[in-house]
Amino acid sequence: MVEKIAWDEFFLVGVEEIDVQHKHMVELVNKAVIRANEYQEREELAPLLEDLWFYAKWHFSCEESLMKILGYPEADSHQKIHNELLDELDDKVEKVLEGYCDLQELRDFLFDWLGRHAHKEDRDLGAFVTVRWN
Ligand SMILES: [Fe+2]
Ligand SMILES: [Fe+2]
Repeated sequence: MVEKIAWDEFFLVGVEEIDVQHKHMVELVNKAVIRANEYQEREELAPLLEDLWFYAKWHFSCEESLMKILGYPEADSHQKIHNELLDELDDKVEKVLEGYCDLQELRDFLFDWLGRHAHKEDRDLGAFVTVRWN
């Protein structure tokens, strides 16, 4: 059994819109985890991982608009990371579908994929937004 990802303060960045979107991304990952546990079929995961990819792309564009509006100094490097994250997810999904990555490894990758950026660069952005909006 592959374990679901728990939503907790580790993911919090302190800006409600961003946190709501991150929470939805955790839910999308967990949907894939549940499906993987139920069916053990890689093909079943493809549409769910695709949903995650498209939602992430939309979420990243929301953050990028916000950074632009507020003149966030790290906007360019943050955007570059978003593009890398989308490529990384793309590569991983391909590996899963080709059978080169097991489901536990996929789950661990997704936890790291979501958490690493949310906990670091998005947190920095959150701190900047909080100061600006208060
Ligand atoms: Fe984010
Ligand atoms: Fe981000």
